[in-house]
Amino acid sequence: MKEQTLAIIKPDSMEKRCFGEIIQRLLDEKFNILKMKHLKLTREQAEKFYEIHKNKPFFRDLVNFMTSGSVIVIALERENAVNYLREIMGSTDPGKAAPSTIRSRYGSDIQRNAIHGSDSEQNARKELSFFFAQYEIMENISE
Ligand code: CMP
Repeated sequence: MKEQTLAIIKPDSMEKRCFGEIIQRLLDEKFNILKMKHLKLTREQAEKFYEIHKNKPFFRDLVNFMTSGSVIVIALERENAVNYLREIMGSTDPGKAAPSTIRSRYGSDIQRNAIHGSDSEQNARKELSFFFAQYEIMENISE
């Protein structure tokens, strides 16, 4: 069954101007793009989005980084979307990510790791609703 998930192309990918290649990779991997937004997160939004990490030592750096430039948030659809996206993103740390994964190709370090993807179906629903209204993600705009 088709599933939905959320990807965020992070500020490092925007700065490196490789966001187009990352979007192409998602299309090549048979994801449908339901909706895409180019935006700059406010501090409040970044803190809320990453609330789960608020007690981690890297939280402040993470929020600083995610608000340092613009991002592209993408609502994606595919069979097994959540797990498949995580597979092609690779490990959080690009240095440990398998060759040819998105983070291995485009990431620099554990913080500047090119892309975010939801880590479970439950979080995918939560994260999609953070950026998109239900009516916005009903149509596949990549067809
Ligand atoms: P992401 O998939 O967006 O989810 C949380 C982010 O926190 C993660 O990618 C990394 O960018 C960042 N992160 C996770 N662990 C660490 C760490 N040990 N040091 C710095 N940043 C981290």
